[in-house]
Amino acid sequence: MAPATSSTSSAITLNINGEKHHLPIDHRTTLLDALRERLDLTGTKKGCDQGQCGACTVLVDRRRVVSCLSLAVAAEGREITTIEGVAEGDELHPVQQAFLDLDGYQCGYCTPGQICSAIAVIEEHAAGWPSAVTDDPGPEAGPPPLTPDEIRERMSGNLCRCGAYVSIVRAVARAAESHAEHRAEAAKGTAA
Ligand code: FES
Ligand code: FES
Repeated sequence: MAPATSSTSSAITLNINGEKHHLPIDHRTTLLDALRERLDLTGTKKGCDQGQCGACTVLVDRRRVVSCLSLAVAAEGREITTIEGVAEGDELHPVQQAFLDLDGYQCGYCTPGQICSAIAVIEEHAAGWPSAVTDDPGPEAGPPPLTPDEIRERMSGNLCRCGAYVSIVRAVARAAESHAEHRAEAAKGTAA
């Protein structure tokens, strides 16, 4: 039996969707291949395998990364969220629900990546991060309106070969509205 560690492999622990996975791994293994080939987490899709399509997007410490360009060893000790981990039990994440309600997909192959990306986009926007199409990216300006142009720009790393973009933009806008309402409710609760 091969040793768990060598000059080209190590035993690592990945924290995925709140669960710890211990595995020996070749240092050259991408996070995408570790998820799909080693841990059977096949919700994350392989499209181009070279950072161009966004199908493999997952969240690492709540920020989106293309897992085909990330090494699994570099994700050790970080909080990884894949599409399998975004729902709360039987309750879909609001972004998943919006994609479902507004037909934000056709074949569905790009959808896990689109949803993970959209979750991070909504948080980035709420935190006031500007995009390349934001008019006034001053630090005190607050979040710009999340217009369709903003959504298209912020989601531009996620390609959809079926061309479901119109519905995807609507779904992200709907989920962002729910997120803003939820934050407003939570703020009211804190102030009361
Ligand atoms: S499979 Fe990773 S960006 Fe295309
Ligand atoms: S829904 Fe088919 S690639 Fe996007």
